[in-house]
Amino acid sequence: MRRLTPYVPGEQPKLANLVKLNTNENPYGPSSKVIRALQAEAADSLRLYPDPNSDKLKVAIGENYGLQANQVFVGNGSDEVLAHVFQALLKHDRPLLFPDITYSFYPVYCGLYDIEFELIPLNSSFEIEVSAYDKPNGGIIFPNPNAPTGVPLALVEIEKLLKINTESVVVIDEAYVDFGTESAVKLVNTYPNLLVTQTFSKARSLAGLRVGYALGHKDLIEALIRVKDSFNSYPIDRFAEAGAIAAIQDKAYFSETAKRVIATRAALGLELQTLGFEVLPSGANFIFAKHKMRDGAELTEKLRDKNIIIRHFKKPVRIAPYLRITVGTDAQSKQLVDALRVILK
Ligand SMILES: Cc1ncc(COP(=O)(O)O)c(C=O)c1O
Repeated sequence: MRRLTPYVPGEQPKLANLVKLNTNENPYGPSSKVIRALQAEAADSLRLYPDPNSDKLKVAIGENYGLQANQVFVGNGSDEVLAHVFQALLKHDRPLLFPDITYSFYPVYCGLYDIEFELIPLNSSFEIEVSAYDKPNGGIIFPNPNAPTGVPLALVEIEKLLKINTESVVVIDEAYVDFGTESAVKLVNTYPNLLVTQTFSKARSLAGLRVGYALGHKDLIEALIRVKDSFNSYPIDRFAEAGAIAAIQDKAYFSETAKRVIATRAALGLELQTLGFEVLPSGANFIFAKHKMRDGAELTEKLRDKNIIIRHFKKPVRIAPYLRITVGTDAQSKQLVDALRVILK
């Protein structure tokens, strides 16, 4: 255990009055239907364990995507789902492949489960080149849109990958997919080696409830259930199941808030460009941008002095000049842009 290097989550500051744009949470609260479902759950039944299989939630998620409940796996946030995916499906003699710039939890799971991996470089535009994954492997995983870049990959490219890679599991981590990226869920019934993971934390405004899920062939799901039942029988508590069901059923609120975030992202991207930033195309609820003259770490510090927190990654060096900025409300964007204007003067 001494050799493990754990994942470091974005800061959850205890200070009030911060403009918090560092962990890609939704600036809009959950639907009022979710709040009502949670209130109804605060009852005597809390003395009883929840359903260990979360059957109602699996049915609700399956209905949302036109899939059977046995094609759905749920867990305590998609991080827990991913942890089970690494252990159940991605540990083989050949190395697991993922991009050199990606979600920094992947190498941590590899360390935890002793999985060999190989990093596949993004191209010079920070895009995933699927042809680079055409080599013997024990599995492939990447987020779409990628994190922390936000750059989306077209569905035709994912299908190309699935056509050339039929012998190992391909995992597409769609934590941010609902902010304008095309989902691979529609390929699940065609490619039995495709697993898609999603979360309630981002577009469904429920990071605090901790619910994530995986969609795929029933045999892949069964493998995940075996790991889960060897680890924790009740990862989804009564609140989490009730809240997540209400959230997935309130499609109108979900698409309205996602649309607002997408509109704010477009406006913020333009503002940042006029301030001298190069902005990568984003299909997520965050923007990855670097200033043409100023250092990423320095800008992050100076924003913090003005009570605005964003995320900066020192490594890999190629992304050190970049800032990862969560898309908040229009008012938060204005505060950020005003502060940057002063800092850059
Ligand atoms: C790419 C990616 N995948 C998965 C997750 C995990 O999200 P959660 O555990 O909240 O579902 C995150 C969290 O930020 C992420 O950035």
